[in-house]
Amino acid sequence: MKISVIGAGNVGSTCANVLAHYDLVKEVVLLDIKQGIAEGKSLDMWQASHINGYSTRIKGVTNDYNATAGSDVVVITSGLPRKPGMTRDDLINTNAEIVKSVTENVVKHSPNTIIIVVSNPLDVMTYCAYLNAGLPSKQVMGMAGILDTARYKAFLADELNCSPKDVQAMLLGGHGDTMVPLPRYTTVSGIPVTEFIEAGRLDEIINRTKSGGGEIVNLMGTSAWYAPGAAAAQMVESIIKDEDRIYPVCAWLQGEYGLNDIYLGVPVKLGKGGIKEIIELKLNDAEKALLYKSADAVREVCSVLDATA
Ligand code: NAI
Ligand code: 2OP
Repeated sequence: MKISVIGAGNVGSTCANVLAHYDLVKEVVLLDIKQGIAEGKSLDMWQASHINGYSTRIKGVTNDYNATAGSDVVVITSGLPRKPGMTRDDLINTNAEIVKSVTENVVKHSPNTIIIVVSNPLDVMTYCAYLNAGLPSKQVMGMAGILDTARYKAFLADELNCSPKDVQAMLLGGHGDTMVPLPRYTTVSGIPVTEFIEAGRLDEIINRTKSGGGEIVNLMGTSAWYAPGAAAAQMVESIIKDEDRIYPVCAWLQGEYGLNDIYLGVPVKLGKGGIKEIIELKLNDAEKALLYKSADAVREVCSVLDATA
């Protein structure tokens, strides 16, 4: 089994580092367009292997897709991150060019791979990869929901002074301000969250989750990487180990939730071959309205991509 990570910036190198700690495969290839960056970070990670107790070798390359040949899973993180004042959607033109050319190179060398897109704007860049990959939709997906639910779970754990390990939650929709955290599907060790937190306070936590990416951009001047890199690695793990984990993932909808021809965050079962199943929740009217609003926002940005394609 082989994994490649494209983009050796903050998110890509973190993802490769987490994958090395998981010790899932013999080799992870890390590729970047900037001379030497992937090689340097890979060497550093390999030198940490004894200290951290893993055998996975990270091989860094500068734009050499031959090294990625035969990858079972490829994580695409190449692209510009957000700066303060920018929305994820502001990145569309630059990142679409990058994601298109990277996807073409990836499938040329790994024609049956599974692609996990991380680059922003996430839902639209996943659509861009799908358009250019020529792969079945179960093999092209985006990472956002694991990150967004992880933020939601962290904020809930803070509020309740409990372990985030005991918080379970599901979230739908696009990776943006219209994402739809679902209080009805949020529990703490099986206990509905509404037994612990009153509605107004829960709304505040949900709103903080929706702007969780922006909160970090405002603090650091660039976007997050520890949680995003780890979230992408968790998706890879479920696929490589055929774990059938159920995660919120940006997936191609063909009638599910009454939506067609759109990439959007929904619960899926992830395992060998990619997305094995899209799980349809029985939403109430209010939840449906929020999901459709989020779908409209994603479609609007997709139309910018379609217009320039
Ligand atoms: P970064 O700037 O640290 O790294 C990006 C890397 O991509 C750079 O090293 C750059 O040289 C490389 N790159 C650019 N063009 C390339 C090409 N054609 N081929 C190969 N490599 C290329 O950025 P960071 O923080 O790692 O973020 C990466 C992307 O992930 C951004 O678009 C960011 O907005 C997005 N992101 C998405 C999240 C999500 O939840 N989906 C969360 C966090 C970041
Ligand atoms: C994040 O949510 C900006 O998408 C990036 O951290």
